[in-house]
Amino acid sequence: MEFSTHSTASLHQVKTAALAVGVFAEGVLTPAADLIDRASNGALRTVVKTEFRARPGTTLVLRSLPGVAAQRVVLVGLGKQEEYSARVHSNAEQAFAAYCVSAQLTEGASTLASIPIEGSTIRARTRLAAVAAGHATYHYDASLGKPDRDARPKLKKIVHCIERSDATQAQAGLREGNAIANGMELARTLGNMPGNLCTPTYLGETAKKLERAYKSVKVQVMDRKQIEALGMGSFLSVARGSQEAPRFIVLRHSAKPAKKPAKEADGPVVLVGKGITFDSGGISIKPAATMDEMKFDMCGAASVLGTFRALAELELPMDVVGLIPSCENMPSGTANKPGDVVTSMSGQTIEILNTDAEGRLILCDALTYAERFKPSAVVDIATLTGACVVALGNVNSGLFSKDDALADALLKAGRESLDTAWRMPLDDAYQEQLKSNFADMANIGGPPAGAVTAACFLSRFAKAYRWAHLDIAGTAWRGGKEKGSTGRPVPMLMQFLLNQL
Ligand code: BES
Ligand code: MN
Ligand code: ZN
Repeated sequence: MEFSTHSTASLHQVKTAALAVGVFAEGVLTPAADLIDRASNGALRTVVKTEFRARPGTTLVLRSLPGVAAQRVVLVGLGKQEEYSARVHSNAEQAFAAYCVSAQLTEGASTLASIPIEGSTIRARTRLAAVAAGHATYHYDASLGKPDRDARPKLKKIVHCIERSDATQAQAGLREGNAIANGMELARTLGNMPGNLCTPTYLGETAKKLERAYKSVKVQVMDRKQIEALGMGSFLSVARGSQEAPRFIVLRHSAKPAKKPAKEADGPVVLVGKGITFDSGGISIKPAATMDEMKFDMCGAASVLGTFRALAELELPMDVVGLIPSCENMPSGTANKPGDVVTSMSGQTIEILNTDAEGRLILCDALTYAERFKPSAVVDIATLTGACVVALGNVNSGLFSKDDALADALLKAGRESLDTAWRMPLDDAYQEQLKSNFADMANIGGPPAGAVTAACFLSRFAKAYRWAHLDIAGTAWRGGKEKGSTGRPVPMLMQFLLNQL
């Protein structure tokens, strides 16, 4: 998508196929709506009194208003003025972009970002607007036999009408939002692709593509032999159940030397993404009903790749490392068996009581590998537990960390990007549940607090640095009729990184 800004002064003269103006409930017009109303001899006032109730996210299209250059004015409902928020604004921008897509328009103009919200800046509002437009224009056809070109959204450009003095900040926000949207698009498409196409090899190739596209990105893709040489016995124990070749992917985004921040001593932020391209459960096999959804079990990895795309596009002046352990979890004659004991890269041994708790088995070795970067912080992102879906549904990602400052920074980034997380406990008392009679720990802790004991398991491999874990099992994709990847938590991760500058 392309975005630009335009001054609000002469709104009625803006030449566009569709101009979005906000309307609050009970006929309260925003300044932009009021301007258009006066230019058109009160055309809006009549309509909002009778047929437009301005419920959040609803639209009403008015064509060929007298005195208005825009072909259409799209009234966008904002709900009650006293309840207006960043979330309502984002939904309104999305509704407008969705209207433009359904009307097959190639461009439109929006005045919605100019509406003030307490505690928010024009930069934050345009950033959210660009992300919302990216959401509305997302289209998946990577595995259609004959992609229908006409079905692809034609919307290519949105002009944001804002006060002239806000132009620089608004453009910065649009640039950031567009990069986040592009990162989400990559994450969503990787998530949506089926497991037979989106393999560990394919994820490695995708990382290599990023390396070719952006000078700031360097990528190393390791194969089974190289993973063996690293001593990643836990990761490899999952991989060996499948014919599909595993990959360990290392991405680095480096600040340009000239732009490097003063604090040279600070190590990079390391993002670790779970890359199970299909999780059958292994020998502890899952029920058949929604097993297809386990192609989404690489959404953590996809969010790391998406974040790297956004980072690189923005050329953020910071060092970030991405680590992706990737393989399939399959039952076979060479697969892990319940009761097997494996040795992780850290030297700690693990009794595999359930082969379906495989995410932690591949992540623990990546967490040990992360030590070599002397990171300032490590955040792992994983569709780790069904228990987290039970606890938090698809609203909040689960956030686990013993580091209050890191946890607060992630929670804040989540609120700012409307990609929220909820902090979960990580008390040592839960570690008890991981006791094993035959190894240093078991890979499951029984039914109680399943999301917490999974995080506790990971914590045993993350002692050397500041660490947080995001369980995105409920937020990375939607099931049912709207089945598909959401691109979360790319917005939260990008906001977290932007906030470090
Ligand atoms: N990938 C799943 C987690 C998952 C399950 C995500 C359902 C979304 C929906 C993970 O590998 C898994 O299977 N976890 C098990 C752990 C259990 C065996 C301790 C689970 O949650 O059932
Ligand atoms: Mn599993
Ligand atoms: Zn899994």
